Amino acid sequence: MTFSAEKPNMIEFRDVHKYYGDYHALRGINATIKAGEFFSLLGPSGCGKTTLLRTIAGFEDISSGVVLIDSKDMANVPANVRPTNMVFQSYAIFPHLTVEENVGFGLRKDPRSKDEKAKAVAEALEMVGLKGYGKRAAHALSGGQRQRVALARALILKPKVLLLDEPLSALDKKMREQMQVELIKLQRQVGITFILVTHDQEEALVMSDRIAVMFEGQIAQLADPETLYRRPASRKVADFIGTMNFAPAAVLSEDASGVEVDAQGFGRMTLSPDQVMGGATSEGNTIGLRPETLTILFDGQNATDREVFGTVEEVVYYGDMTYYDVRLDGAAEPLRLSMRNVPGRPVLDIGAKARLGWSPSAAVLFR
Ligand SMILES: Nc1ncnc2c1ncn2[C@@H]1O[C@H](COP(=O)(O)OP(=O)(O)OP(=O)(O)O)[C@@H](O)[C@H]1O
Ligand SMILES: [Mg+2]
Repeated sequence: MTFSAEKPNMIEFRDVHKYYGDYHALRGINATIKAGEFFSLLGPSGCGKTTLLRTIAGFEDISSGVVLIDSKDMANVPANVRPTNMVFQSYAIFPHLTVEENVGFGLRKDPRSKDEKAKAVAEALEMVGLKGYGKRAAHALSGGQRQRVALARALILKPKVLLLDEPLSALDKKMREQMQVELIKLQRQVGITFILVTHDQEEALVMSDRIAVMFEGQIAQLADPETLYRRPASRKVADFIGTMNFAPAAVLSEDASGVEVDAQGFGRMTLSPDQVMGGATSEGNTIGLRPETLTILFDGQNATDREVFGTVEEVVYYGDMTYYDVRLDGAAEPLRLSMRNVPGRPVLDIGAKARLGWSPSAAVLFR
């Protein structure tokens, strides 16, 4: 998942704004997407993901700013000559055509011979795992298979950039997870730039080299999945990506080596500068801790760093995991913890006293 910085830029947005009438849908987008990158646009409904994707494809004019593809300014470059191709939800294939007619659709005006085109279609079908399905009527396919046909139809045109707008959202959970893995493999195999729109944070984390998290027409943070998860730039991003526990914190002192805080329920700690984020809400400064960084300590177990005490308020058993809500002594809100279940270890009941292990090194401060 590491991505070398020397790769050339494939897409560049420079202060892109988009108005629909009075509505300011894109509010100053600045971002660079590298060649060969698997990039995702992630954000809640209505934040402008599809609009931004469509400005790359050329389906949407921008109100101001610049969109560059492969270092060329796309102003006045119509969609049909841009080196991009878009995959929509599964319904964009033609149900009355066969699979190979669907895939070959974009080659209608291609000057190659019939045999050469047939070979290209066969290759594209093999690439998406549909070898031998060419003569099948497209309507006689499952949702996942239709999605593969749509992919093959886009890939056969050999775009530099493949744009995918929530391509898996029509599939059920199992099929979606399977297609996620296949899409990652496919992207590695063909090596072209994939830009995926999704509002599913798990999907974005699993699939992407880097993710732009968008709220209200702006990019709130652009980073690799691990940075987004461990070092979210604001409380809002932290809340959108997975679950994070927040505890009110008072800043006691600070210098170049870090910030000393007193956090409700946790006490005093010093956080290094890389653990200090902006993006506090109007409620004030808070520390943030992910559920898996808090551990219930059972009899005989010692904390590797610090320990605190609390009471179990909720228990949700998931088979492999148990989720607990634990309220620390002196805290206003319970914390969410996730514990891997181990044979022989008890699951605590509601009302039980719990001893928790934690470490300031896993915390971030939003201020
Ligand atoms: N053609 C249009 N005319 C006016 N407003 C539009 C138009 N298209 C989109 N919008 C508005 O712009 C905003 C961004 O829309 P967009 O489709 O980019 O959101 P999105 O992030 O893709 O959301 P979703 O996850 O629901 O698909 C929304 O508030 C939407 O209502
Ligand atoms: Mg959309």
